[in-house]
Amino acid sequence: MTTLAVSSTNNIPRGPKPMNNLLVAMPYIMQMSRDMMGTMDGMFKQYGDTFSFEIMGGRVAMFSHPDHIQEIVLTQANKFHKGMDYKDEKAGLARFMGNGLVTSDGEFWKRQRKLASPAMHAKRIQNYAGTMTDFTVRMLDGWRDGTRIDVAFEMMRLTLKIVAQTLFHVDITQDVGRVDEAMSAIQEAAGGGINLVPAWVPTPRELKARKALRDLNEIVYGIINQRRAGGEDMGDLLSMLLLARDDDGNGMTDKQVRDEAVTMFLAGHETTANALNWTFYLLAQHPDVLAKLHAELDTVLGGRVPTLADLEQLKYTEMVVKESMRLLPPVWGFGRQAIEDVRIGEYDIPKGTSVSVATYWTHRDPRWWENPEAFEPERFSPEREAKIRKYAYIPFGGGPRICIGNSFAMMEARLLLATIASRYTLHLAPRQKVEMLPLITLNPKGGLPMTIRARESIRERVVAAR
Ligand code: HEM
Repeated sequence: MTTLAVSSTNNIPRGPKPMNNLLVAMPYIMQMSRDMMGTMDGMFKQYGDTFSFEIMGGRVAMFSHPDHIQEIVLTQANKFHKGMDYKDEKAGLARFMGNGLVTSDGEFWKRQRKLASPAMHAKRIQNYAGTMTDFTVRMLDGWRDGTRIDVAFEMMRLTLKIVAQTLFHVDITQDVGRVDEAMSAIQEAAGGGINLVPAWVPTPRELKARKALRDLNEIVYGIINQRRAGGEDMGDLLSMLLLARDDDGNGMTDKQVRDEAVTMFLAGHETTANALNWTFYLLAQHPDVLAKLHAELDTVLGGRVPTLADLEQLKYTEMVVKESMRLLPPVWGFGRQAIEDVRIGEYDIPKGTSVSVATYWTHRDPRWWENPEAFEPERFSPEREAKIRKYAYIPFGGGPRICIGNSFAMMEARLLLATIASRYTLHLAPRQKVEMLPLITLNPKGGLPMTIRARESIRERVVAAR
C-alpha cells in the first residue's frame, strides 16, 4: 500500500488514530475478524455516517449517506476504480475472477459490459423463468415433510444450477458440489478480512483456495471447449462472449471468456441464494408477514407453479424480497479506490484511498427508514416506495456499475420464493440463533438449518383437529 501525504488543511473524515504498525493494528484487525458488523456499528455510532482511518500505510474511508453514495457510484464515478479487495490478484476477487466484469475498469470494462448486456435484457431474461421454476420444483420433489435441511446449501445449489443453465446452457448438476466448495473457499480467501499470511504459505485456507481455482478452471474451460467444438450459436451469454469481435475483427481469448464466465457464475448465484436465505429466516420470525404472503400465493396461484405472467400480480411477494434485501442486503457493502484526489460532500479523499459504500448501514439509518430494525414489507408498497430517498436503498449498487443481473435476480428471487413458499413453510428451532457471516456476501454463519413443513399437511392437521 502507498503512504498518503495528507495535508493538515484537508477535511479528511474523522476516525480512529492511525494504525501504521502491526502492534497497533493487530487488536483492531482481530476485532474486525471476530465481529465485523459490531465493530463497524460502533464506528458509525461514534463518528456519524462517514469515517476514515489509516491502517498499515493505507487510508480507508466508509460512507453511508445517500448523497455521498450517489457521488461515489454516479456523479464522480470516473474518479474511482474498483477497490483492492476486488482487484488484488493475490488476495482479492481477481485471483479467481481474473479481469471479468466485476473486477475490470475503464474502457475495457465498458466494452465488456456492452457485450454482456444483451444476455441480461428484460426480453431475454423472460425466457429464463421456466428454467428457474423447473429446477426449483425438482429440488422440492426431493424435500420431505418434517425434515431438517440446510436452506443455505439448498439455495446455493439451486441458484448455481439456474445460472449455469440460463447463461451457459450447461447442466452443472454433476459438478455442483465442486463449484459450491470452490465458492466457499473463494469467500474465505477473498472476503475473509485482512489476511496477514502471504499466499505462498500453504495454510488450510490457502490450499482450499488453490483447489478452488483448479476446479473452477477445469470446469469452465471444459464448458468453453465443448461449445467451441460444437460451434453452435445458442443465443446465450457464452455464445455472445465467444462470437464477439472487436473493431479489428479479433475475438476474445479463452482466458478472457473464462474470466467473464467465472465472474457470472460467482456473482450470479451466491447473491440471490443469500437473498432467499435471509428471506426465509425473516419469514420464520414474522408469522403475520408469512400469512399475508401465503394469502397472496394461494389467491394468485392456487397451488400452481408460478409463471412469468403471474409476477405482475405477486406484489406482496416482491415487497417481501425487497424488504428482506433492505434489512439483510446480500452485498452488504462494496468498495472503490480513488484514482485521483476527490471531494465527496464536504470531505477530502486523497488519491489511493479505499472507499467503501456501507450498504447495510444506509439501509438501517433512521433518518431514511422509520423503525429501521423492523421487517415491514409495506415500506415497498408502490406509494411508499416512491417516497424512498434516492440512494438510501442500494441492494444492487447504482450508477454505471449497477448490478448487471438485477432484473434477472429480482425475477429469480420472486419466482423461487413463490414456488417454495406455496408448498412449504420453513421453521427455525425454538431459540435457534443465526449469526451473520459478512464475507463478500452476507451469509448465515454455519449454514441455515430449518425444518420444512409441507403446507398441505398443515391444512390437513388443522382439519383433523377440528
Ligand atoms: C440478489 C441478488 C444480487 C445482488 C444483491 C447483487 C448485488 C450487486 C451489487 C451491489 C453490485 C455492484 C458492486 C459494485 O458496484 O462494486 C453487483 C454487480 C454485479 N453483479 Fe450482481 N447482484 C445480484 C445478482 C446478480 C446476478 C443474478 C448476476 C448475473 C447473473 C449478477 C452479476 C453481477 C455482475 C457481473 C456485476 C458487475 C457489474 C459491473 O461492474 O459492470 N448479480 N451486484
